Amino acid sequence: MSYRQLEDRYRELAQLEHASDMLQWDEAVMMPRGGGARRAEAMATLSTLIHRGVTSAETGAWLERARQESGLTAWQRANLREIELDYQRATALPEALVHRRRRAATLCEQAWRVARENNDWNGIRGALTELVALTQEFAARLGEARGLEPYDALLDQYQPGVGRAEIDALFGELKSFLPPLAERVMATRPKPLPLPGPFPQARQAALGRELMRHLGFDFERGRLDVSHHPFCGGDPHDTRITTRYDEANFLPAMMAVLHETGHALYEQGRPHDWLDSPVGQASGAAVHESQSLLMEMQVCRSEEFLQFAAPIVARHLADGAHEGAWQADNLYLACTQVERSLIRVDADEVTYPLHVILRYELEQALLAGDLPVADLPQAWDAKMQTYLGLATGGDHKNGCMQDVHWYAGLFGYFPCYTVGAVMAAQLFAAARQRRGDIVAGIACGEFAPLLSWLRDNVHGRGRLVDVSTLLVDSTGSTLGIAAFKAHLEARYLGH
Ligand code: CO
Repeated sequence: MSYRQLEDRYRELAQLEHASDMLQWDEAVMMPRGGGARRAEAMATLSTLIHRGVTSAETGAWLERARQESGLTAWQRANLREIELDYQRATALPEALVHRRRRAATLCEQAWRVARENNDWNGIRGALTELVALTQEFAARLGEARGLEPYDALLDQYQPGVGRAEIDALFGELKSFLPPLAERVMATRPKPLPLPGPFPQARQAALGRELMRHLGFDFERGRLDVSHHPFCGGDPHDTRITTRYDEANFLPAMMAVLHETGHALYEQGRPHDWLDSPVGQASGAAVHESQSLLMEMQVCRSEEFLQFAAPIVARHLADGAHEGAWQADNLYLACTQVERSLIRVDADEVTYPLHVILRYELEQALLAGDLPVADLPQAWDAKMQTYLGLATGGDHKNGCMQDVHWYAGLFGYFPCYTVGAVMAAQLFAAARQRRGDIVAGIACGEFAPLLSWLRDNVHGRGRLVDVSTLLVDSTGSTLGIAAFKAHLEARYLGH
């Protein structure tokens, strides 16, 4: 049976992916700087081998025959559909381009780590220019195969089914809704009592691990480590999350851990019988971000969660003084401040989408060739002034060099954060409505009802259905902004 042969092929490819994921984790967490160039070659070669396996003549022939086979189950049919899509994308790309782009992306990311540290825009401009050029070619070829504009082909890679038309409509509404909301909240929200540090890294890590355990993270099948940029990688049986620590302020690291735990729970909950098959993968990056943001923003910044977590946080971090500051109501205020800030990853949920919209607009201009890489810092500064009223002139580190994404070749990814935030609000509203024990559970540290709802409605479904069907099945409606608006108004305006 040709379908079976495809499954076997993809099992082998999944093992190469596994090796690649682990090398990538090691590269970001453990590798000494001198190992960078050889690692970039090794990772590029693994990408090439995976590409060769997908695009081989046998895979094409098996696909051709598998299309005619009858008696496939719903999961098998969905798997075949995903394999077709993978094949279509991979055959659009010459092997040499896959290798060159992966190598360039790894080297550029490595160079970015050093350049960002030194605010050295000139030191990274050349590598980014090369990566943009390779991505233009990559996007044009993918787009041709998929019948999409180049930028849409990049979006389609991360989140099939949520295209520029949906994103433009969503972002258009947010651009008019968020700035006046942010103004109002900044003018009215009380400031929290200060939380005095310092907070030694080891204590913050112990706190992070304890909260992860409560949320359902399985340490038999995962780890927490440190990297430049928090991420979740690895494998459902060995899920690696990272954070970074600031000893003066524990909230960014704690929130990053809770965010990445949301990603990790999705990975650990993927359908176990299909882990090595395309249908068993997570349903795209926006849905992935919906799971991290549901955990971070909807759950862990809520009054209920902080009632449960405040004594744990204090046990790890408080020094016996400033007792009022460690109470749940003060932590809640600290977790729900709104302010204009330069850094996306530290931004609050009201201003965060503005950071994403800025990147969405700039990356389209970069890829279309309308914005030369050399002009990126000025364009960034202009948009920061428009959307957030802040200047970044000369401060590249906290301007266009702050995020790893472009320097790692991830163009078309940023919109997923805001689409994910909107989805998260929609999913959490439905979950609360359908299971009365979820919110009560969160307040007493009982997360099983929430996790079981997420497993049934999102994690365990892999790519069985498309995003729109997933949302309709779990929430009763397609992607819309109503729940996100209602969430922000309830939390920040009290209605
Ligand atoms: Co995330």
